[in-house]
Amino acid sequence: MSQSALTITDNRTGMTYTVPIENGTIRATDLRQIKTGPEDFGLMTYDPAFMNTASCRSAITYIDGDKGILRYRGYPIEVLAEHCTFLEVAYLLLFGELPAAPELKNWVHDITHHTMLHETTKKFMEGFRYDAHPMAMFVSTVAALSSVYPEARQVHDPHIRLHQIQRLIGKVPSIAAMSYRHNVGFPYVYPDNDLSYAENFMNMLWKMVEPKYVAHPAIARALDVLFILHADHEQNCGTNAMRSVSSAQTDPYLSLASAASALAGPLHGGANEEVLKMLDEIGSKANVPAYIKKVKEGHIKLMGFGHRIYKNYDPRAKIIKWTAEQVFQVTGRNPKLDIALELERIALEDEYFIKRKLYPNVDFYSGIMYQAMGFRPEMFTVLFAIPRTAGWLAQWQELITDPEQKIARPRQIYTGHDVRQFVPIEKRTPVAISRE
Ligand code: SDX
Repeated sequence: MSQSALTITDNRTGMTYTVPIENGTIRATDLRQIKTGPEDFGLMTYDPAFMNTASCRSAITYIDGDKGILRYRGYPIEVLAEHCTFLEVAYLLLFGELPAAPELKNWVHDITHHTMLHETTKKFMEGFRYDAHPMAMFVSTVAALSSVYPEARQVHDPHIRLHQIQRLIGKVPSIAAMSYRHNVGFPYVYPDNDLSYAENFMNMLWKMVEPKYVAHPAIARALDVLFILHADHEQNCGTNAMRSVSSAQTDPYLSLASAASALAGPLHGGANEEVLKMLDEIGSKANVPAYIKKVKEGHIKLMGFGHRIYKNYDPRAKIIKWTAEQVFQVTGRNPKLDIALELERIALEDEYFIKRKLYPNVDFYSGIMYQAMGFRPEMFTVLFAIPRTAGWLAQWQELITDPEQKIARPRQIYTGHDVRQFVPIEKRTPVAISRE
């Protein structure tokens, strides 16, 4: 009998089944043979929120949540953050290898020459209220690009796929910057192809009337590092949305808009904005104990803390903390850091957090740095979506080329009525319904 298998006895029938174990998993469809009779549909697994379900095979990102390990294509995040540029890491995520110098040069050229947006994009933007949330503008505009590039629907053509990948990575900073400029009522700034990816983003955000924008190198490098840290994170909520929507062979613009929509949630990428609101609400270090008390009573969550996978310190949070110090040397220290450090100090000593293995995640310190750079909290999740575009596209590429994948369509446990007799409206009586 194979050792790498489960032997299951169904106590309802006394039957036993052997189910192979592969890569630490069993195939859910192998359970369908377990029936009580020929009419029985067979067993399914029930796993709300996919707490213990692998949805795909992936070679892109590896996380060890207990040890706080994060690697892109086998390279530790710490090494990539120290030695690479974001576009170098985007190449690694998408193509599986770090580029040699000529490959990187060509890649940077291709992305740089896709930063321009179709002029019609301005009309999309003008349709938004002046105070529209930048994530709403980002998601809508990315989706609208589906109407500009209809050939993107040919998802099985590798050349067309690569062209959309280059367009999206090149254009998301331009869309983000347009959202910001729309919010503050400034004219849009066109890309400057002399600048690096991060410098050009800063140019499109902050150039005013000077003839040529010059980015502060420390701020540009800090942004590039933040882009590297946010680029991918295996099967998170946003990536699951990307894979689920694109499994229907939806074009990458509409699929990526769905991924960004998931990222916008306050439990996901929207947490960085919520952390700043939380720190503003706390107001000072002296108020931290009272706030922690409210968290422990279950009234509120400590935003920027906790993670489905990391049951140790998020390795990205450590790097962000270090990078923030570099930024503060240029911008001046953000006083909210002191409140955040006190929150972390108290939380990491408190049994409530220790028992639940709650540590700072990627969102805990990033917002403090973004704010010091001059970004408004509403922009923080857009800053997450820009680099995560590379990860979402790498995951999309992997899904489209995976022979095991097909349209995502989960099953359910039905809890509703059995068949009912129809009642014509003249015979119906009002029934109290819950509007919760
Ligand atoms: C990101 O998945 C990814 O990889 C995401 C991400 C990426 O790169 O894509 O890493 C980016 O989304 C980071 C997470 C950002 N979100 C936040 O900071 C929001 C605050 N965190 C929580 O909402 C929560 O920790 C989650 C959503 C991140 C994870 O939630 P889980 O895994 O579903 O855990 P849970 O809600 O079941 O919590 C387990 C226990 C519960 O207590 P009990 O019911 O057992 O008593 O821990 C408690 C929770 O109440 N808990 C928290 C808490 N997070 C969990 N209590 C207080 N504050 C928190 N932040």
